[in-house]
Amino acid sequence: MNKPINLFEYESLAPEYLSQIVLDYYASGAWDEITLRDNRTAYAKYKLRPRMLVDVSQRNLSTKILGKPIKMPILIAPMAFQCLAHSEGELATAKVAAELGITMVLSTMSNTTLEDVALAADVPRSLWFQLYVHRDRSLTRALVERAEAAGYQALCVTADAPILGVRERDRKNKFTLPSNLKLANLASMANLEIPETEDESGLFTYFAHQLDSALTWQDIEWLQSLTSLPIVVKGILRGDDAIRAVEHGAKGIIVSNHGGRQLDGAIATIDALPEVVAAVGNKVDVLMDGGIRRGTDILKALALGAKAVLVGRPVLWALAVDGENGVRHLLELLSSELDVAMALSGCAKVENIDASLVCKFS
Ligand code: FNR
Ligand code: LAC
Repeated sequence: MNKPINLFEYESLAPEYLSQIVLDYYASGAWDEITLRDNRTAYAKYKLRPRMLVDVSQRNLSTKILGKPIKMPILIAPMAFQCLAHSEGELATAKVAAELGITMVLSTMSNTTLEDVALAADVPRSLWFQLYVHRDRSLTRALVERAEAAGYQALCVTADAPILGVRERDRKNKFTLPSNLKLANLASMANLEIPETEDESGLFTYFAHQLDSALTWQDIEWLQSLTSLPIVVKGILRGDDAIRAVEHGAKGIIVSNHGGRQLDGAIATIDALPEVVAAVGNKVDVLMDGGIRRGTDILKALALGAKAVLVGRPVLWALAVDGENGVRHLLELLSSELDVAMALSGCAKVENIDASLVCKFS
């Protein structure tokens, strides 16, 4: 088999390696999937304005996030249940992140314990922990303490999921985990599992029963009182919310609509980014995710003020197709596309990517 030459080729190959139920769970967005599509199509409105005759012979993709160096401005988004894609699941993803010097954000809903993932990564420096705040606050506190003890470098609190968005494919499939896979971080502490339901996604039901839909900004302060880790709030789409996040102590913000999986009709992330950057970009690191599939998507996001981007589903496609090797190759493809895009637009370094590089046509 020839290796895929871009992220879309991994996406087209993935269905050969996944059951329909898993494919639907990974791919789907909420309701009509408008936001899912918009996340992609919105990039086309932004045009690049490359600079010519700049010496780009020595290029460097490295940058800093939360004051720490990373090899390229690409993180792996938190994504639940990676053992549905490949038996090595989160361990494979974490190994590659450590090897490439980038950050993986591990989901609360992983099939591998956060401690085992930290061991596989060997360098927990490359890991952040994504937190879903459960109604059971002692359980939530224990998760935070475990993540800090295991060496995770930041707590990424997801703000856009007080309940789960309605993914109709999952509802039809009555999505749940196969019996051999667990909610690894929660099963041992509280015996929690994704239920089997009559006419609903088991994951939707889990969120409805276990997650705290009363979460507010005050809880960000509560979380900060539990940990010395920096808090990054994920799922912000407005400037005023970004200001609130900073006022309540967040050190980073991820502009995200959860890959179109929560509120359908929500604004595409590349369109939401400029408002958030204008509101807080000089105070904290602003990151974004949603529909990043090409190096030029990253270049546009960075030109609009993001410090880095997170990539979601493509990592799952590559994991399904070829495990650890697939994920490594996928990230190499994406970084080499970014490298070429930077060279062709007169940027030798990430710091050279400025707002003048992009303009919007409606
Ligand atoms: C996610 N996402 C997500 N986010 C989060 O905060 N915690 C989680 O557990 C998950 N789980 C999850 C599972 C799957 C299968 C997907 C596709 C997504 C959202 C994720 O972090 C990210 O915001 C989007 O996936 C980014 O969009 P793209 O790159 O997939 O278009
Ligand atoms: C999802 C949750 C787990 O998007 O964040 O499926």
